[in-house]
Amino acid sequence: MLARSAVRAALTNSRSFSSSAARQTKVAVLGAGGGIGQPLSLLLKTNPLVTSLSLYDIRGAPGVAADVSHVDTASEVNGYPADQLDQALEGVEVVVIPAGVPRKPGMTRDDLFNTNASIVRDLAAAVARVSPQAHVLIISNPVNSTVPIVASVLEKAGVFDPRRLFGVTTLDVVRARRFLAGVTNNHPKDTGVTVVGGHSGKTIVPLLSQTAYGKGLDQETWSKLVYRIQFGGDEVVKAKDGAGSATLSMAYAGAKFTDALLRGLKGEKGVVTPTFVKSDLFADQGIDFFSSNVELGPNGVEKIHPLGPISAEEQKLLDECLPDLKKNIEKGKNFVAN
Ligand code: NAD
Ligand code: LMR
Repeated sequence: MLARSAVRAALTNSRSFSSSAARQTKVAVLGAGGGIGQPLSLLLKTNPLVTSLSLYDIRGAPGVAADVSHVDTASEVNGYPADQLDQALEGVEVVVIPAGVPRKPGMTRDDLFNTNASIVRDLAAAVARVSPQAHVLIISNPVNSTVPIVASVLEKAGVFDPRRLFGVTTLDVVRARRFLAGVTNNHPKDTGVTVVGGHSGKTIVPLLSQTAYGKGLDQETWSKLVYRIQFGGDEVVKAKDGAGSATLSMAYAGAKFTDALLRGLKGEKGVVTPTFVKSDLFADQGIDFFSSNVELGPNGVEKIHPLGPISAEEQKLLDECLPDLKKNIEKGKNFVAN
């Protein structure tokens, strides 16, 4: 019979062998105990590209981790309580942040700024300290401001790399695809839509004219569809009637974007999706963050695509988007500067 130490050594060797053969990716979820955090953690547990999950929250993360860890996929899961943020971030390659309060009926996303700005700022400071090489995915609202906040914190710490910071706008893309499928009676696999701008109301600009099924819509159908894509979040906030905002569809969208990033990091070619990043597209108008199609690769942002041809109506939507977006971005930057 093998001595216990020999068995341990054999296991260690086989583990280190497999770790050199396959890519190891540790992903952290900050805010893992929340409405988004829990289903997002579950979906990430089912992603074979994730080899280790680090779940952190000021409330309840160890319980969520114990629960999710029983799912029979290969990744390991660890939960960290409020006082173990740094431990949660050790060795992490991707950090997804859904921490913060959600809207109630009657609120705008900007109304969340006072609470969520400092939550996101403090989490970003921990990332800068412990895992400065990590790719950071921001879900916490208002995304148009929280992404510039994180950029400014990382910049102040001297570790900002614009290729590694992403505002997750995938829910707008998911909604656009689903709603266009609904109005044209098609399968969502055929109704993908590029959504550009930011993530709130009129800053959300769907480019329906670039799609086969979106370009032929009559004026009234187009207007209603655009409104629904821009204000889809309000539908959920209203229906939940004080119990929060989108959590399940957001977890799906967050897992989808994380998967796209992980595929890009692994070297898959042609992974292109809209995301809110530091961008030169409208820098001449003082807007240095913008969501457009971005190619994801081994370093994160590989290439920011231009908008491409847009219709006169879409140009009007863009003209309405830019001033609001500019204000939201400046508000985020000023919060860290002052
Ligand atoms: P929730 O209240 O259910 O969960 C938030 C979690 O964050 C809670 O578990 C809370 O304990 C935790 N938290 C608070 N402060 C923290 C801190 N300092 N460190 C770690 N965890 C902390 O809210 P939710 O429904 O999950 O929404 C979370 C955020 O996501 C909100 O700001 C919401 O507006 C936003 N959101 C964004 C999108 C998007 O498309 N980007 C979509 C939906 C919701
Ligand atoms: C959404 O679009 O559903 C989220 O941004 C949450 C919200 O406040 O609407």
